[in-house]
Amino acid sequence: MYETLLVETEQHICTITINRPDKLNAINKTVMDELGKAIDEVYNNPDIKSAIITGAGIKAFVAGADISEFQGLSKEQGMAIAKKGHDIFFKIERSPKPIVAAVNGFALGGGCELALSCHFIIAADTARFGQPEVNLGLIPGYGGTQRLVQLVGKGRAMQLLMSGDMISASEAQSYGIVNKVTPPRELLDRTKEILQNIQSKAPIALASIINCVNNFDHTQKGYDLEIQKFGECFATEDMQEGASAFLEKRKPVFQGK
Ligand code: COA
Repeated sequence: MYETLLVETEQHICTITINRPDKLNAINKTVMDELGKAIDEVYNNPDIKSAIITGAGIKAFVAGADISEFQGLSKEQGMAIAKKGHDIFFKIERSPKPIVAAVNGFALGGGCELALSCHFIIAADTARFGQPEVNLGLIPGYGGTQRLVQLVGKGRAMQLLMSGDMISASEAQSYGIVNKVTPPRELLDRTKEILQNIQSKAPIALASIINCVNNFDHTQKGYDLEIQKFGECFATEDMQEGASAFLEKRKPVFQGK
């Protein structure tokens, strides 16, 4: 069904693997199109409660956009590539179901941006993060200038973007890019354990958390959204079930209603 992705769902977790290991999983047009379709599947398939995005092989998560597709493009074509990437990466960021990046190697350029568009990142200790576009006379085009600042702050973002240097998984963890670093062989199992715990929670509450956190802002707007979403939870069966289960000293069974 997919040419450049492996997509399989097990225990309600959909694992999307970018599968071009001979090109370090670089994102070409087909990968981007198929990623959009796979994320639609995450949204629409009721059997899927959460998703992992990872890369095939031991070397790379994704080593960037496919540079071989960049030669001879016009300004308008460049903008169209960025716009399409933005639309699909927003779809990941705004997914009502948790989507986590399991970074198993190089996460460079568009690969780093793909990881940053996920709700959070778990990484193998062999992972390397960087935005090397500047070495090509380019800048990030899939949201990197914006999402990196949110995670690491202005100074560190400026240095990463302007130097094009790579940082290790442990440095990325100290920067706040990565939540947890694992041995490479444990990466997927550890990520799945984290998601098993998260996906046992109430789906509407999870979707509301994602929505509120994504809409963080320093003005009243973010707080107003929280008031709205908090109130909406009271109208769900899951909230009644969660409160009853607590009072009856049993585990809640959430239905996503
Ligand atoms: N686009 C297209 N092809 C890529 C690629 C990319 N972003 N990244 C790697 N590849 C290809 C290489 O061209 C090579 O293909 P080939 O075997 O047909 O020649 C293959 O993947 C393996 O990469 P290679 O460079 O030989 O591996 P390496 O271990 O020597 O170096 C990197 C690894 C990640 C340091 C290096 O591949 C690299 O710098 N890639 C580009 C990173 C980048 O600039 N990303 C941002 C793009 S906007």
